[in-house]
Amino acid sequence: MHLSDLHFGRVNPRLLAPLARQVHALAPQVVVISGDLTQRAKSAEFRDARRFLDALPGTLVVVPGNHDVPLYNLFQRFFQPLGKYRRYISEQTEPVYVDEELAIVGLNTARSAVFKGGRVNATQLARVASRFSALAPGMVKIVATHHPFDLPAGHEARSLVGRARLAMDAFAACGADILLAGHLHASHVGDTAARYPIGAYAALIVQAGTATSMRGRGEANSFNVLRIERGRIDIERFAWTGPDFTVASRASFSRAAGGWRAS
Ligand SMILES: [Fe+2]
Ligand SMILES: [Fe+2]
Repeated sequence: MHLSDLHFGRVNPRLLAPLARQVHALAPQVVVISGDLTQRAKSAEFRDARRFLDALPGTLVVVPGNHDVPLYNLFQRFFQPLGKYRRYISEQTEPVYVDEELAIVGLNTARSAVFKGGRVNATQLARVASRFSALAPGMVKIVATHHPFDLPAGHEARSLVGRARLAMDAFAACGADILLAGHLHASHVGDTAARYPIGAYAALIVQAGTATSMRGRGEANSFNVLRIERGRIDIERFAWTGPDFTVASRASFSRAAGGWRAS
């Protein structure tokens, strides 16, 4: 399962129990949460987020978002930007999950210097490459970040993570299959071939909307479920239709030479 932008401090409280119930019903092996767990990086918000995460089943793979870095407390912002995140959510801001079929590497794209934007650096990309290169062929390789590498139509390029092009070259070289992200509060499924023509390479782009924030930007609260087999990935988007989250759209992709294509 892929959840994003929970934004404790600005959640719609009616959604929390139905969301937790759905995670239990779907019983995912892994739950990826692609950042923005809080609204203003306050301790009380992180505690609420922690309580919610504690009630979820499966292995959690969580990365921070820009809202998890304090904005107004300048000492914290520049000297301990993820201090509270580390205390309440995880010491590990770049978690790794590997089983016999798939590998997930989380990257922290939140930066103190810019509140909204995010970026990756060469060290992070080298870490992804070394993780993925060590895997057996056929494993599905997933990168989880808060800021997106590609965008749905209508979003400006400045929402892209900084150094996205450098990252895509690294991902193509090590064969990253799926890029999970959030931040936009807009759902999107597509592939990277159009924005980043790198031979026949195409990674799957999966954006989750906000699962629980009041700021849906015109879109219902939502999350994604990915069912992954070696040569095939089925993605379901669940959207809040009150009193529950229900399946709103489906997409399937199969592995072709160089990358993933809609099937
Ligand atoms: Fe957000
Ligand atoms: Fe964000």
